[in-house]
Amino acid sequence: MSEVQLIELTVNGQRYDLAVEPRRTLVDVLRHDLRLTGTHVGCEHGICGACTILVDGAPARACLMFAAQVEGADIRTVESLANSDGSMGDLQQCFSENHGLQCGFCTPGFLMLAEGFLREELEPTREEIREVVASNICRCTGYQTIVDAVEDCAGRRRAALQQALDQQAAT
Ligand code: FES
Ligand code: FES
Repeated sequence: MSEVQLIELTVNGQRYDLAVEPRRTLVDVLRHDLRLTGTHVGCEHGICGACTILVDGAPARACLMFAAQVEGADIRTVESLANSDGSMGDLQQCFSENHGLQCGFCTPGFLMLAEGFLREELEPTREEIREVVASNICRCTGYQTIVDAVEDCAGRRRAALQQALDQQAAT
């Protein structure tokens, strides 16, 4: 029988105790053990970005990490982007409205890549967005609509932030 180790993972705010082989990848644990199948697997070599998730807020390739490596980290998958009522979150809505997907295979990876980026940069230039999304591969969209979606979401988040600040100032 192969060696297993006990690990504790925190995924989308929920704690899981798991017994895994030390070499088991994070993407396999997410998809097969936790049934969080929103994270996709393409190349398994760190090239395509389909498996992109957030580890402590930063985009990371889940196919290149062992699950045991990320004990204690805050792991977020695409499932975390939905609103609490199950409806699409703002970034997902922007991808939908701007036609930022076609077959959708790459989409979870692009969403998490963009989410990590927008957490750091709320006023990105179009060129900065283009540079960021270039690290993942999409075979369908031609990228322009993905850039449109990220730009749109940045604008909506800035507007929401401004509205909250205005309300705070008025009270
Ligand atoms: S499946 Fe991880 S980068 Fe392609
Ligand atoms: S939408 Fe098909 S690969 Fe990106």
